[in-house]
Amino acid sequence: MNIKKKIILSGMRPTGKLHLGHLTGALESWVAMQGEYQNYHLIADYHALTTNPDTSGIYENSIDMLIDWLSAGLDPEKSPMFRQSKIKEHSELHLIFSMLITAARLERNPTLKEQIRDLNMDNVVYGHLGYPVLQAADILLYKGDVVPVGEDQLPHIEITREIARRFNTQYASVFPEPEGKITKFARLSGLDGKRMSKSIGNTILLSDSPEVITKKLRTAVTDPQKLRKGDPGHPDICLVFDYHNKFNHSEIPEIRENCKSGKLGCVDCKMNCAKKIIDALAPNREKRDYYESHMDKVKDILADGEKHAGTIAEQTMAEVHEAMKLG
Ligand code: TRP
Repeated sequence: MNIKKKIILSGMRPTGKLHLGHLTGALESWVAMQGEYQNYHLIADYHALTTNPDTSGIYENSIDMLIDWLSAGLDPEKSPMFRQSKIKEHSELHLIFSMLITAARLERNPTLKEQIRDLNMDNVVYGHLGYPVLQAADILLYKGDVVPVGEDQLPHIEITREIARRFNTQYASVFPEPEGKITKFARLSGLDGKRMSKSIGNTILLSDSPEVITKKLRTAVTDPQKLRKGDPGHPDICLVFDYHNKFNHSEIPEIRENCKSGKLGCVDCKMNCAKKIIDALAPNREKRDYYESHMDKVKDILADGEKHAGTIAEQTMAEVHEAMKLG
């Protein structure tokens, strides 16, 4: 019996080394789906240009991210990984799709509006408006059925569905209507209690050494009312407690009780937490050591992923051209 696996496609912009939030928010679910689904993962290097035209570090950032993916457990035998810019069909399909959606629809995209506000942008480039159109091409080239993403990306998946429907009715039924799958996770805050973000510098990187993790944890903010050991704490408002919940779940009842009673001081609690994070990342570190000392292997993995993705993309474009009578 040969039942066709459902296809998942997801990607990230190559912003450099990834942090714990990327692991719990995306990578763990990609890895969990691997095998049951046919995974494809793209390094969205063209998308990165929408907010930053500087390409000086783009290759290194892409490789750093790929090593993070591999270290988290993505298996290149099962999950092709590739750069968007190396598969020319992404650009071609983006162009065709750009005729199937109105500018007004793209201007209503709430994720775009949020970005404009957050990044204080006074000018939006044409390609940024078309960000979701390129994303639709990313997904539909591989006929993705399921797209595991964070909540902010759901408007883009909705636009992808609209474009797929529009193409299928206008020309011929080529594309599935992909579903967004929110990657559920307990959101981890940064070390200062704000959202974990590279630009704020409050992250624990997947590539941090045990020493760095310990040092960073020492600076984490905790319950402001608990100034010294003996003071009763409030674990439910403490980000270190959230980290324990994720990386040290079995000790949660004990930590809760001893924090509340004052018996457990923040320094001891943080050092225990650092140790658990270090332990949890041990398999990750082992794979990273391997890949970092076998860079030629990493390059081969990328080349193989790009070859594989290119074959699928070419097939889909042939169907697209045929459906459009551009053959
Ligand atoms: N837009 C996604 C982000 O900013 C990255 C991305 C590009 C993506 N193409 C994709 C995600 C296709 C899922 C599917 O995080």
